[in-house]
Amino acid sequence: MVLNPYKKFFTLCTLTFTVTFCLQLDPSEVLLVSFDGFRWDYIYKFPTLNFHRLIEDGVYVKQVSNVFITKTYPNHYSMVTGLYAENHGIVANEMYDPVLNKTFSMDTLDIYDSEFWEEAVPIWITNQNEGHKSGVAMWPGSDVNISGVYPSFYLPYNELVSFEYRVAKLIEWFTSNEPINLGLLYWEEPDDSAHLLGPDNPFMSKVIKEVDEKLGYLVAEMKKAGLWDTVNLIVTSDHGMEQCSSDRVIELDNYVDENLYTLVDRSPTVAILPKEGKLEDVYEALANAHPNMTVYKKEDIPERFHYIHNSRIQPILAVADLGWTILQSRSGGYLEGNHGYDNTEPNMHPLLLAHGPAFKRNVTKEAMNLTDLYPLLCHLLDIQPLPNNGSLSQVQDLLASTDPPFLSNYVDPESYASFVGVFLGSVLALAFLLIFIKHVTRSQMSAPEVEHPEITQPLLDV
Ligand SMILES: *[C@@H]1O[C@H](CO)[C@@H](O)[C@H](O)[C@H]1NC(C)=O
Ligand SMILES: *[C@@H]1O[C@H](CO)[C@@H](O)[C@H](O)[C@H]1NC(C)=O
Ligand SMILES: *[C@@H]1O[C@H](CO)[C@@H](O)[C@H](O)[C@H]1NC(C)=O
Ligand SMILES: *[C@@H]1O[C@H](CO)[C@@H](O)[C@H](O)[C@H]1NC(C)=O
Ligand SMILES: *[C@@H]1O[C@H](CO)[C@@H](O)[C@H](O)[C@H]1NC(C)=O
Ligand SMILES: *[C@@H]1O[C@H](CO)[C@@H](O)[C@H](O)[C@H]1NC(C)=O
Ligand SMILES: [Zn+2]
Repeated sequence: MVLNPYKKFFTLCTLTFTVTFCLQLDPSEVLLVSFDGFRWDYIYKFPTLNFHRLIEDGVYVKQVSNVFITKTYPNHYSMVTGLYAENHGIVANEMYDPVLNKTFSMDTLDIYDSEFWEEAVPIWITNQNEGHKSGVAMWPGSDVNISGVYPSFYLPYNELVSFEYRVAKLIEWFTSNEPINLGLLYWEEPDDSAHLLGPDNPFMSKVIKEVDEKLGYLVAEMKKAGLWDTVNLIVTSDHGMEQCSSDRVIELDNYVDENLYTLVDRSPTVAILPKEGKLEDVYEALANAHPNMTVYKKEDIPERFHYIHNSRIQPILAVADLGWTILQSRSGGYLEGNHGYDNTEPNMHPLLLAHGPAFKRNVTKEAMNLTDLYPLLCHLLDIQPLPNNGSLSQVQDLLASTDPPFLSNYVDPESYASFVGVFLGSVLALAFLLIFIKHVTRSQMSAPEVEHPEITQPLLDV
């Protein structure tokens, strides 16, 4: 179709102003998905068609350097706060806080004490404080009363709730009359199975295939609901997984009397609380006990772990070498696969994929820090990040475009000039749009194609 110069002018103006208008007043929508324990290299070891499709369609970060300790709760809270574990306070899956004299346990689902979570503010709350709505399906902490606030929409944690139901809920929230702009989705696999089987077990092929199908299902449902081209989808995980062996077990009972300490957190990074006055005894007994176990007094924990400055970090920390298991005795809790090791070990790293209007396509990046995810999310949602340990500049190269300069100044809400600018810009955009539409209608030119989101099917509640 050949447009005359007059039409061309209007088209150009409309496009320019619409783009400006949208960037300013329509911060993008984000769905962050975590497949627990999805090691970065699973996509090279097992057939994973849907992961590979997403790689070609979006951005792909091969390895994400997660935070120490490489466990589920610490890393999921880092994703939504941008903080190291010592700063957000969820320092392990199993904790004891000597100041509160309280315990926290993922194993017994004793995780609902607000005080454990309130050293930080998760992104769903910050998003809501800025007038948006958040919808969270099973993400660690999302059904906890944190400073008196819950996500706008959430599901009480229940591992029996299917992936498909969680997806249905998120789509319902994204397409409701007052839609969310931030969705978080958590799925327990492949972590659960890999703990039992070990990541080197041939049956893992089936487990990863199922996770790949879940990803395919999510993409298909997003397409059906008309969300695929508008919502920025980020798929990642909290940590990787290592093959263990019953030949690589360190038994604490062989070195130290179990009555001298309390075991607060278990293998492979063991948190030890010595009984009153027994710190030196326990430390001396364990310090050189086994070549594949490094034992630190709290104050000597290496700087790079960012794992000292919190009262929930116990006086002694014993860290197993990759693939080794630390138990009190043989009778307790050996797993074929585990994680929680040094966060510089590649096998502890997950991957990250992203697709959507904000992201480049078919671009691969070697590595990123997990703490950089939070500033990235805040940028996409156009909300002000709280103080954190990440940096947007480290992941800016994943983004399709950087904002025009005047938009990045927008963060200053006091700026009258910027407000007026935006207001005038919006009015102009609307005016141009109206003129253009009128013009188009008159000349009976076919209107530019607009994608109509399909109506979602009614959802069946289980
Ligand atoms: C800590 O709490 C336990 C009960 O959970 C109680 O027996 C103990 O005395 C408390 N310790 C202190 C120091 O308050
Ligand atoms: C959440 O905690 C706050 C205190 O931070 C309390 O006032 C409020 O009643 C709690 N809400 C629910 C639903 O338990
Ligand atoms: C275990 O310790 C031995 C002796 O120091 C060492 O050679 C080996 O590399 C260690 N294993 C791991 C997995 O680090
Ligand atoms: C993705 O990029 C690679 C090179 O980096 C290229 O070979 C391939 O054709 C591209 N695929 C698509 C779908 O653009
Ligand atoms: C991760 O963070 C560290 C410390 O801030 C920095 O030195 C490193 O370059 C970062 N790595 C990546 C891949 O951005
Ligand atoms: C991480 O961020 C918190 C909050 O800004 C800050 O208090 C802490 O010092 C930071 N840690 C490092 C190692 O920079
Ligand atoms: Zn796990």
